[in-house]
Amino acid sequence: MITIEDGSQRLQQLIAGWRYPEPYDFYDGDPEPVLNPERFFEARDEQGDTIGFYYFEPKPPNLDYGLGLRPDLTGQGRGLEFFRAGLEFAHERYRPERVFLHVAAFNERARRVYERAGFRVVSAHVRSFEGFGAVPFVTMIERISVRQLEPADVAAVDRRLPLSRLREPFEDSSTYLIAWDGDQPVGHAHIAWSGTHMALPEIQDVFVLPAERRRRIASELTRAAEAEARSRGWDRISLSVSQTDNPDASRLYEQLGYVDAGLERVRVSGEILIRGRPFYVDDTLVYLTKSL
Ligand SMILES: CC(C)(COP(=O)(O)OP(=O)(O)OC[C@H]1O[C@@H](n2cnc3c(N)ncnc32)[C@H](O)[C@@H]1OP(=O)(O)O)[C@@H](O)C(=O)NCCC(=O)NCCS
Repeated sequence: MITIEDGSQRLQQLIAGWRYPEPYDFYDGDPEPVLNPERFFEARDEQGDTIGFYYFEPKPPNLDYGLGLRPDLTGQGRGLEFFRAGLEFAHERYRPERVFLHVAAFNERARRVYERAGFRVVSAHVRSFEGFGAVPFVTMIERISVRQLEPADVAAVDRRLPLSRLREPFEDSSTYLIAWDGDQPVGHAHIAWSGTHMALPEIQDVFVLPAERRRRIASELTRAAEAEARSRGWDRISLSVSQTDNPDASRLYEQLGYVDAGLERVRVSGEILIRGRPFYVDDTLVYLTKSL
């Protein structure tokens, strides 16, 4: 467990004394007072020892995120947990649309951690530092993140997305996965865990906001559903798609490795109720499946 609190003068003094082995001496503490001490936060472990700092610079609606693990704790595989703790704190406190990282290009160790946490390089630039000269940097931003729908998020998600399969109170027999772009919900997928056509977990109600399509969001949602099914011990998953009327979705699932389950086509015709409202449907569904 990492706890995070506002930075103090004492934190600045600690950081000023930190020395990293080459080539990371670029990050050595500086005895000069920092310009914006209020942007620094202190991370402590269970024993209360300072294990690093976080730096958050709001650039509305976004946020720049920087961090430093105490030098003697680097190179021990602790980076990802440290990074994620700061990221979670940043999301809760600042609610940014997007989180940006600016990383020295040579720092592949840090870049690997950020990539594992779902960040991608989007651009490159050069910064000048006294004593180091021109240093190439890359900017990384958080890719779409997929999380299970929580009761507290229903109102915000419901304003933007159909949530056609929503049932309240939540039931254990299903899960809604929401794709977030920063703090904006941009897509969803529902997983039914029981009572399904193929007696397998079934992905339903895959939907991405029209303006956000072709950004791999549906692919991310489907992969997240597969990962959740796998973690619950399933080795196969299913879904259905219109036989002729939804070529985009058919292509999506084909690209993700779904194959025809070989079952009889299912005709759905007539009025159905979606969250209490009647809709007329006339479609023929093909069931697809994928081994996990
Ligand atoms: C179908 C849907 C979920 C796809 O969402 P998406 O986020 O745009 O999908 P992705 O970006 O992950 O697409 C992955 C692949 O699917 C295929 N695909 C998706 N949309 C496509 C389109 N408009 N034209 C052609 N291929 C398309 C492509 O193979 C694409 O890969 P590519 O971009 O490398 O070519 C979205 O269009 C949607 O919400 N439609 C309305 C609801 C719906 O039909 N749901 C599916 C019910 S079964």
